[in-house]
Amino acid sequence: MARARVLSGVQPTGALHLGNWLGAIRNWVDLQESHDTFFCVVDLHAITVPHRPEQLADDTLTTAALYLACGIDPARSTVFVQSQVPAHCELAWLLNCVTPLNWLERMIQFKEKAVKQGDQVSVGLLDYPVLMAADILLYDADRVPVGEDQKQHLELARDIAQQRINARFASRDAAGEPVPILKVPEPLILPEGARVMSLTDGSSKMSKSDPHEVPGSACWIPRS
Ligand code: TYM
Repeated sequence: MARARVLSGVQPTGALHLGNWLGAIRNWVDLQESHDTFFCVVDLHAITVPHRPEQLADDTLTTAALYLACGIDPARSTVFVQSQVPAHCELAWLLNCVTPLNWLERMIQFKEKAVKQGDQVSVGLLDYPVLMAADILLYDADRVPVGEDQKQHLELARDIAQQRINARFASRDAAGEPVPILKVPEPLILPEGARVMSLTDGSSKMSKSDPHEVPGSACWIPRS
């Protein structure tokens, strides 16, 4: 029998931190035993915020190496770089054309990041969750292991698949039953480690944009 499929990804925006490990990658390692697993380095997501292209290329390779160092086994999992598969952008465009703008405007992460960017907010930052939906829906993923902060994005991916594609465009089988076009994915959020807090400010989430959580601090996972 075919195994259920898992897809997840991390942005190559610098070294991974304990939140990435406890919230997501630790779970990925275990899921390799029981699922058909796809792990992506989502470099196209990383260009929605200010970045240096040479650094991004370096960080993309480093993130892939860290996947392996954490226990992702390329003999059992498909490890790949998002920008190398043009179908992610192609599907994102199709999904863009059915996704209501106000679904994106209410995304918490968009609002948080937009405040920091002022009048430099790009369309890409707003559209980020649609590209994430495309990442998932393209592979017919059954489950998506992520930390708590990605829950709203997962709900959006489910709503796009169910309400905006399947409900509108599904064909009918001989018995008149709808044949879904896209698989509606389930989030997989472990209760422990779903939201690891900053080691210097217990009221905010551990994040790569926190200068205390990057190279030099105690919680940084060093490059191998
Ligand atoms: P990203 O790169 O911000 O984080 C990668 C993974 O780490 C989890 N995480 C945390 N978990 C617990 N505590 C924390 N403090 C913490 N910080 C980060 C995140 O929840 C995530 O699982 N949009 C995604 C990347 C993405 C993706 C996808 C994920 C793009 N396409 C498709 C799954 C499927 C993101 O920015 O994750």
